[in-house]
Amino acid sequence: MPASPYARTLLVGPDLQRGSYADLFQRQLIALRGPEALADIVDTSEGFADLWQQVRACVAAGELPLLLIDLDPNSSSPYLDWLRSELQSIGGEQANRLFVARGNSEALDAIGALIEQRDKHLGCVDVPVLPDAHAWSCIPEHQYRVLLCNGPRCTRRGALPLWKALREQLKAAGKLECAGGVHITRTQCQFPCDQGPTLSVYPPGAWYQIASEADVQRLVQEQFVAGREVPELIMRRG
Ligand code: FES
Repeated sequence: MPASPYARTLLVGPDLQRGSYADLFQRQLIALRGPEALADIVDTSEGFADLWQQVRACVAAGELPLLLIDLDPNSSSPYLDWLRSELQSIGGEQANRLFVARGNSEALDAIGALIEQRDKHLGCVDVPVLPDAHAWSCIPEHQYRVLLCNGPRCTRRGALPLWKALREQLKAAGKLECAGGVHITRTQCQFPCDQGPTLSVYPPGAWYQIASEADVQRLVQEQFVAGREVPELIMRRG
């Protein structure tokens, strides 16, 4: 990997410290950057406190410029804006020496080039303010709230494609985030991992195991269109 123009680069995302996926990631990172690069990993599975602490330490020590490479597979433009605005506030007068770039943890060998491509790095000053109207300031109409686990074990059991299927099927049924419809949110671990992928429905607070697209279809048609529970898929009633 070529020498970095940054005093410090942090690799930030969930599931980078523990588990099979993290093992593979770390092995590849060591091969590319040496074992000292492990100190640059910041795992956000449990929250962002470690990241803020590391950024504050870099700013306090003058370990700048600092580049944060976002490796969250669920990243989005609002997420990046939020990250940058948090860095702007932590960095204060040094915020113009903090940068964010979007990376891909499954293409680690491209990260060396990304670090050199300054035109792909986003600064942390004058960060766009999140809109304070429309969807960002009101609760969408809905009848049910659905929480689909995208934690590490449910993800390994196939939860990510199920999220896409759930969105598509709710939309096709006219039930996505509308009056009488369903508000859906991805979550981290909900705990009954071995019975997952876990999906919770409020009301009534039922815990479902949704293991396939056929289960998604059944849940949408029976629970959300017909308004009756699906006993065969329920782990526990509310
Ligand atoms: S990872 Fe989904 S319930 Fe634990």
